[in-house]
Amino acid sequence: MLQTIKKIGVLTSGGDAPGMNAAIRAVVRTCAFHSIKCYGIYRGYEGMIDGDFVEMDARSVKGIINKGGTILKSARSKAFRTVEGRKAAYDQLKKAGIDAFVVIGGDGSFTGAMVFNKEFDFPVMGIPGTIDNDIYGTTHTLGYDTALNTVVEVIDKIRDTASSHNRLFFIEVMGRDVGHIALNVGVGAGAEEILIPEENLGLDRLLESLRRSKTSGKSSSIVVVAEGDKIGKSVFELKDYVEENMTEYEVRVSVLGHMQRGGSPSCFDRVLASRMGVKAVESIITGKSNYMVGLKNDGMDLTPFDQAVKGKSKIDKELLRVSDIMSI
Ligand code: F6P
Repeated sequence: MLQTIKKIGVLTSGGDAPGMNAAIRAVVRTCAFHSIKCYGIYRGYEGMIDGDFVEMDARSVKGIINKGGTILKSARSKAFRTVEGRKAAYDQLKKAGIDAFVVIGGDGSFTGAMVFNKEFDFPVMGIPGTIDNDIYGTTHTLGYDTALNTVVEVIDKIRDTASSHNRLFFIEVMGRDVGHIALNVGVGAGAEEILIPEENLGLDRLLESLRRSKTSGKSSSIVVVAEGDKIGKSVFELKDYVEENMTEYEVRVSVLGHMQRGGSPSCFDRVLASRMGVKAVESIITGKSNYMVGLKNDGMDLTPFDQAVKGKSKIDKELLRVSDIMSI
């Protein structure tokens, strides 16, 4: 029998990503549209365990579609990984009369939701929010597009100074253990080489490629390195290695870090967040649970949590070839 949903909770969990606020707004307003009460849950699963809830209406989310970060705050909760922690969270939800929740986060957050659903038969729905784009079942996670634009803008600036001094830059970008950000910004910013976890370029090929760049008359070189790159050396070790083997290069390093997670979301991420929020709430209302909403073939789609978590989001290897051709 279809359970009537009267109160939906919404939380952001794991690393924040641009577009999370736009997704909170979309969940809250879709609830208001369908006359369902909505509760914001602060600090991810930590706040769920503590019963840190606030009732939200359509006006509570005004002026946030363009804001980075998350107004609900986020956390990576250790306590929610324990049976006791999840039981405490369940008791708090029951006490507040909340009968379903939408979690905006990454694979760790979805794993938590999946276990919780199994233990308490509690309706849950996920919205993929992470700059890494590492979740199966959606071509884009929330925040990914914004992060790409942020990083490309920064690399353009680094290129200005690199060309002025004829320097080589190693630029480390985020992405945990996947290379989506590195690969796309590498092509978008015209990098000479791109190092990603999915492919082991090898140090010899790197040197060979840098030699080619030098002899072809380039005034600067940019190598984009994904933080989880397979070569197994940090950007600082790469710098030392190249300087030892190619004295003709003056090398600098730039680790972009958490600035990649900040800033106002792109229009793409705002629209995506709005669509995902509507789909998440309306799926719960129609009795669906334990799914992640995602973008597939330009439309909103649902992927079971276990597939979203276990599956791999594949990089586009053709982009590596495109990059090789472009950096001739
Ligand atoms: O998952 C998002 C992400 O920014 C990754 O790209 C990065 O590896 C990680 O989070 C950093 O985590 P923290 O903010 O906990 O240092």
